[in-house]
Amino acid sequence: MTCCIDVIDLSFAYPDGRQALHSLSLAIGHGEKVALVGPNGAGKSTLILLMTGLLRGEGRIRLFDEELVDGNVKALRSRVGLVFQDPDDQLFSPTVFEDVAFGPLYAGLSEDEVRRRAAAALARVGLEGYEERLSHHLSLGEKKRASIATVLSMAPDLLILDEPTAGLDPRTRRRLIEYMRSLPHTLVVATHDLRLVADVFERTVVLDGGIKVADGPTDVILGSSELLQRHGLE
Ligand SMILES: Nc1ncnc2c1ncn2[C@@H]1O[C@H](COP(=O)(O)OP(=O)(O)O)[C@@H](O)[C@H]1O
Ligand SMILES: [Mg+2]
Repeated sequence: MTCCIDVIDLSFAYPDGRQALHSLSLAIGHGEKVALVGPNGAGKSTLILLMTGLLRGEGRIRLFDEELVDGNVKALRSRVGLVFQDPDDQLFSPTVFEDVAFGPLYAGLSEDEVRRRAAAALARVGLEGYEERLSHHLSLGEKKRASIATVLSMAPDLLILDEPTAGLDPRTRRRLIEYMRSLPHTLVVATHDLRLVADVFERTVVLDGGIKVADGPTDVILGSSELLQRHGLE
């Protein structure tokens, strides 16, 4: 199995001295769907920011079989679709089209190709025809899906979503889960929504206190109520 992400002995402390990750190693193969679970403060978001080069820690990170270094961080990051927990960190244009078209336009694609990419990305998340809608007027569920479309339009090789179902009502959550299941991408999702984990991910990694405490098939991890309880996951 070739590696999509290979994190080797990664440690990170925030400037205030807070140690958020301790010597963490984790390899994720192409096409895998992996859930990162753990209580609040476990280090899930920090790990995501490190894996995408938005934070730099100690240790090594390989993306698509290349070592992540200052010189290639922009090029490698352009192949990763990172969706933040809060859609307001992702959507910053007046209209949905402008948000979804931003990446492809910035990448220098033709106007036709940008329109095609935007329409396809919106269709993929069930927002076909939303191009002229105002981003800040969308419901939270629509904003979450529009956020995913803004990265799908870049045709990323790897999708990383931080808490995609947080704050959604049950029906919207269910639809989003169906979209995630249908995505052909390598998918890494940080969440404490264990139903989402059971429905979408074949593999689950448990973090607690910045340490990887378990990593295995989702049915095994979710079947261990003692493990879940010990790490505040029930
Ligand atoms: N900007 C920051 N400055 C200092 N500490 C932070 C910052 N962001 C997160 N932390 C701390 O790092 C640890 C990991 O946080 P985080 O990665 O956000 O966890 P999770 O996403 O699993 O809830 C927590 O102890 C948190 O308080
Ligand atoms: Mg988080």
